This record gives sequence, C-alpha cells and structure tokens, in this order.
Amino acid sequence: MFIYRARVFDTPRDPFTGGALRSESDVALVVDDGLIIARTDYASAAAQHPDAEVVDLRAGVLIPGLIDTHVHYPQIRAIGYLGKPLLDWLDHCALPEEAKLGDEAYAQALAGEFLTGLTSAGTTSAMVFGSHFASAMDTFFSQAAEVGLRITSGLVTSDRILPEPLLTSVERSVSQSQDLIDRWHGVGRLRYAVTPRFSFSAGQELLAAGGQLVADNPGIWVTSHLNENRDEIAGVADMFPEALDYLDTYDRAGLLNRQTILAHNVHPSDRELARMAEVGAASAHCPTSNSNLASGFFPLRRHIEAGVRVALGSDVGAGTGFSLLKEGVQAYFMQQLDPSGGLPLSSAHLLHLATTAGAEALELSDDVGDLSVGKRFDAAYIQPTAGQPLSVGLEHASSDDDALAKIFAMGTPADIARVWVDGELVKG
Ligand code: GUN
Ligand code: ZN
Repeated sequence: MFIYRARVFDTPRDPFTGGALRSESDVALVVDDGLIIARTDYASAAAQHPDAEVVDLRAGVLIPGLIDTHVHYPQIRAIGYLGKPLLDWLDHCALPEEAKLGDEAYAQALAGEFLTGLTSAGTTSAMVFGSHFASAMDTFFSQAAEVGLRITSGLVTSDRILPEPLLTSVERSVSQSQDLIDRWHGVGRLRYAVTPRFSFSAGQELLAAGGQLVADNPGIWVTSHLNENRDEIAGVADMFPEALDYLDTYDRAGLLNRQTILAHNVHPSDRELARMAEVGAASAHCPTSNSNLASGFFPLRRHIEAGVRVALGSDVGAGTGFSLLKEGVQAYFMQQLDPSGGLPLSSAHLLHLATTAGAEALELSDDVGDLSVGKRFDAAYIQPTAGQPLSVGLEHASSDDDALAKIFAMGTPADIARVWVDGELVKG
C-alpha cells in the first residue's frame, strides 16, 4: 500500500463539453496493488492507512500517464528526417528503415529503444503501429509485456506499391496475424490490432481479410492511416473507384467500428466525419507529423462538431519525438495558425487530449485516463531540475491552468522524473 502525496492535475470532466482542469495542490492518493482506493487529504489517508509507504511528490506535478494513439515502433531510428511530403518521406526514409526489421536482432534492438522512448516520455498506454514482419512483432510483444505498458499493436500488412520485402499475400497475412492474435491478444496488458498500412498499399481482398479477422476474433482492434496527404488521397480514389471515399475503403472491408483508430484525417469530407461518428471510430491527431510532412491543418473543430472522438498521437518517426507534451503544444499552435479558423485550446484541453481522450479512444477509460478513485495508478511525475526554466515557470505561475500551460510549453522527457503503470515504476 502506498500513499502518493502530490500536487495533482487531471481532466475527469471533458473541457470540450464544459469541463475544466481538476487541480489540487496537496492530495493523497491511496494505492493498493495498483488500484487508487482513496483520494483524500493527507491527514485522513495517513490515519486510515498508518502502515502505507508515503511517497512525497509535492515538489513537482503528478499527471495521469500519457496516452499515445499513433506511434510506429519500426521508426524509432527514422525520427528527424526533415523536408519531404508523405509519399517521398515513405520512399526515402521510413520504408528502407522498416525493411531492416526482417533481421530479428535488428528488430530486437529497436523494440527496446522504442519502449524506452515511450516510458521516458511518460507514455503508459499506446496504439502502436507495428512491423511488416511477424518475427519483429513477436519480439515487440514479448518486450512490451516485460515492460508492462498498455500496448495495442499488430502486424502491418500491404500487398502493393511498397518495396518487395514489405509485401505479403492475403493467405500469409491471415495466418501470421491469427498466430499473433492467438499468442498475444489479451496477454497481460497487450491487445491485438489489425493493421493494414493504408489503402494506398492494400488491395480490397487484403483489407477484407483484415475485416474477417475482426469478425473471427471479437475484441481485437483496427488501426490504419486516413486522409493524410492530397496525393495519397487522389491515389486511393484512383485505386478504389467503387468506394464512396477513402474511409469507405475500410468500411466496406469490415474494418470500421468503435475499436478503430485512424491516424491523421487531415482532409476528411463531411460524409466521412458523419460515418466515423456513427460507428464511433476515433481520429489520432498527430500535429508534429502533420507539420513536418506539411500534410495540412487538422480540422479539430469539424471533428468535435461532428461528434468524432479525437486523441493525440506522436506519429514517431514522421513526428519529431515521443513527447505528448510537445504534441499538445503543437496541436495548440496549429489551431492558432489555421487560416480557416482553428479551435482555441486551453492547457486543460491539451491535457485532456493527451490523457482522458486517449483512454476513451482506446476504450481504457474504466481503468486509466485520470487519477480518480477506482482507476489504476498510471501516472507521470513532472519534476524539472531546480533553476531550469520550467522549474522557474512553475514556481511563478499565476494559476494551475497557467502552470499546466508551462508544462506543455516547456516540458520534455527530461522533466519526467518517474512513471508508473498499474502502480509499478517503469521509469525513475
Ligand atoms: N501512411 C502510411 N504509412 C505511413 C507512415 O509510416 N507514416 C505516416 N505519417 N503516414 C503513413
Ligand atoms: Zn503513422
């Protein structure tokens, strides 16, 4: 039993629907076997649980573990390649790197580096875009299970356009995916996601085979890319003349439901937004990636007005790192700059997008996303080095909302001192 005595910021009530930041400067979270069993003042907690170990976190700020709804495991070493739009970036940067994961030792090294990237940034749950190689996925799931993060991931499939080593057949994709589902879905905190790379590199039969896997394996997830780049969208329209639009290529294959997360959706039609809302599919908004690849301005206002769920993704490696604090402030910048009129975001919106909204998109809200009684203790402790600008900023903040804005503006993984998943330390 632990009592975490801390300054706590979280967003149990959605700021997009009238909620606000919940902030307390000195609260005691009583955690028993990973479960928050009480949230009260320190004196009451200490009196009720005199044998609990007390962890004093009042020097920094405790927030819920961050939730990344779109991040590519094979791209950890591809971060920081600047200056190309999506399809050129894939050809010159991402795909040559991803082909290397056919080598098991290489994949093993990357899996470790990638998981360290997540934990270092305070990320405790993620929808992870996998590898095209089944052996690389085995290695990844096995290491993720050891670290203990809440990971949803799967074998990436493509059967056209990409370099030959990254291609599969319908039969092979089904047998390898089913094997991985049988081995890993529901093991510890792991879940499986059917993962066609994007309709641009997948024929109708391959997509439909993914839909059949979803029908055969209730509870598994789906993730892919959608409406990221104008050339990509035009290519998909050419290749699927019978589809209503890009979203429909997934929908008619049986890949669209409440357990579907689609990355980007920078250029959706109104029909696509209405259909996503109808089925409950979520968009992963990846603002540093959208900026790096010049993909465009994410229409957050249109998503919210249409009732489509949105959460944040780092999109490593088109995104510029694992930090969801950076993604949060970049989302804010892009809404400020959008010439068609973005949605002004407060620091509470940013924390919501990086935590609670991710938990909702991944259907993990019963367990994580905020630090209320009944939730598992997934948390990140932000404690900048004394004298550093973030530390100075926190000391002189005019309000808790202002302090949180400073965390998003200046916070980096170096400021995240400790991270817990289910009450277990994964960093610090
Ligand atoms: N679309 C298909 N593959 C990718 C990828 O690796 N990154 C991004 N940003 N978009 C994609
Ligand atoms: Zn991506």
